[in-house]
Amino acid sequence: MAAMQQRTEAALAVALPDPAIAPDRLHEAMRYAVLGGGKRVRALLVHAAGQLTGADTAALDRAACAVELIHAYSLVHDDMPCMDDDVLRRGKPTVHVEYDQATALLTGDALQTLAFQLLSEQPNVADPSVQLEMIALLARASGSRGMAGGQAIDLASVGREISRAELEFMHIHKTGALIRAAVLLGARCGACDAKVLEPLDRYGKLVGLLFQVVDDILDTQADTATLGKTAGKDADHDKPTYVSLLGITEAQALAHTLLDDALSAIKPLGPGARRLDDIASFIVNRRF
Ligand code: IPE
Ligand code: IPE
Ligand code: MG
Ligand code: MG
Ligand code: MG
Repeated sequence: MAAMQQRTEAALAVALPDPAIAPDRLHEAMRYAVLGGGKRVRALLVHAAGQLTGADTAALDRAACAVELIHAYSLVHDDMPCMDDDVLRRGKPTVHVEYDQATALLTGDALQTLAFQLLSEQPNVADPSVQLEMIALLARASGSRGMAGGQAIDLASVGREISRAELEFMHIHKTGALIRAAVLLGARCGACDAKVLEPLDRYGKLVGLLFQVVDDILDTQADTATLGKTAGKDADHDKPTYVSLLGITEAQALAHTLLDDALSAIKPLGPGARRLDDIASFIVNRRF
């Protein structure tokens, strides 16, 4: 995992614009938002799924960078005063604090479009129609029926009591969609049929929800220094979470059930899926 995280860091450093090129402040802010932090879980998922389907590593690097860029953009905007109003991210001041709000807005915009540039600029897979499907997959996962839609629900839920089904819908969209897309994008870089894609898709959906359940738990259990972001902010901002709805013990039990289900989903794929097992366990056992 550490080697793959470093590989992703290096690939992102190359993919991002040189800060010496104008507009230098925007390019600096883009690099600030993306580099030098982050667990790179989505990149790990792209590579692990792609290894299973025999994908080319350079194609996986581009797909992994694309997903991490969308993720980084979502964090920059998530932290802005009009959303979660956070001052700390990955142990550093958030982009709008370090730069300014307009720069943070544009940084998110530019990271998002760079993701699609990476996926489309050169042949990523042998079949151009598969490449088009990959671009559409990432667009759907990021848009109003995916991450952005989930964020809209998140904001609309502040201070409200929502049902468990509504909470699940919100989490599956704001966080789950992109994680699910990461798994599928990695797989699609290689050769795969429905027999492989179906278990991977089930796994991606479960792990995507699991990721946000654990994020909710960590917000209440971990400290700011370990998290690299302000602890306890969900309760402070009156956000409905799995912890506020179920309590900590039941939320933790749910995380373990989701982990078990995710591992069962990919059992049919055999020992080639071991890395995906490890990533799912890492998501549950992580400290930040
Ligand atoms: C945080 O994501 C925001 C959520 C979608 C829950 P991560 O915990 O993956 O953040 P980094 O990339 O490691 O900083
Ligand atoms: C973030 O959820 C989801 C996205 C950024 C799409 P949170 O608001 O819980 O993430 P953190 O806790 O700020 O990282
Ligand atoms: Mg948020
Ligand atoms: Mg937030
Ligand atoms: Mg959170």
